[in-house]
Amino acid sequence: MSTETPPPETDEPVDDEHAEDAAIEPSDDVETASPGERRRAEKRARGAQADTEWQTGTESSGDQETRTITVFRYDPEVEEKASPHFDDFTVPYFKGMTVLDALIYARDEYDSSLTFRHSCRQAVCGSDALFINGRQRLACKTQLSALDDPVRVEPLPHADVVKDLVVDMEHFYDQMKSVDPFFDPDDLPKGELEEQKQSPENREKIKMGTRCIWCGACMSSCNIAAGDNEYLGPAAINMAYRFAMDEREGEIKKEDRIRIIEQEHGVWRCQTQFSCTEVCPKDIPLTEHIQELKREAVKANLKFW
Ligand code: FES
Repeated sequence: MSTETPPPETDEPVDDEHAEDAAIEPSDDVETASPGERRRAEKRARGAQADTEWQTGTESSGDQETRTITVFRYDPEVEEKASPHFDDFTVPYFKGMTVLDALIYARDEYDSSLTFRHSCRQAVCGSDALFINGRQRLACKTQLSALDDPVRVEPLPHADVVKDLVVDMEHFYDQMKSVDPFFDPDDLPKGELEEQKQSPENREKIKMGTRCIWCGACMSSCNIAAGDNEYLGPAAINMAYRFAMDEREGEIKKEDRIRIIEQEHGVWRCQTQFSCTEVCPKDIPLTEHIQELKREAVKANLKFW
């Protein structure tokens, strides 16, 4: 099936340039344009305006404007880099530039061995959590304009550095898996195509808990996790919260889950310092979720609730 727009039905010859203009400017015939056409034209107009603003910003900032990033370097496999140190990179600045943009520029233009993780570039995959100017942040979500120069970029604290800005996430993933991050309902829907329904109120309750992107920023900021390697940590406890508070969770599984989180290195270790909540790039109220699970653990043990 062709996805091309059919040519307009007219006797007049149509040149391509004007045809494009007509598509961007629907206002001539707003009355007759379909809602879909109007939406698409408005979207194109917004895109064109954003391009113009970006272009203006770039030009006004000029090629001369630069920022300096000071980046942690370490590579145990290369003799001259085996000793941890910092390298400075001066990068041309443009409006809207993020720390990740600066790192990519430094890697592509100055040193191809500079190593860091990234993927989605839109705060979704969680792979570029770093310690930037003394705080855990996502590099792709952090604007250079919000930071003082020089911008100091380090790997996440409290994790083993593999190379440059890459840390070993294995322990973090193990903690996440240890709370059984999956559903185990008591009953399945009767019909093959029936949904496992959840009320809007319950969905609202766990909404923030589902936003975790497994970046590890919270774990890295937690003093308790730094001193107790077995502590489940805020991300794993939040994951347990997300399932334990879901009304579709089976009773048996919920009991299991509460047993996991009330263990010696579970929720009771949290000292409500709120550092995890402060650095979470998805604004999950992690400390609150931990406190709520503490209450659930108490209720489960009192037995008369
Ligand atoms: Fe995916 Fe930043 S690159 S969260």
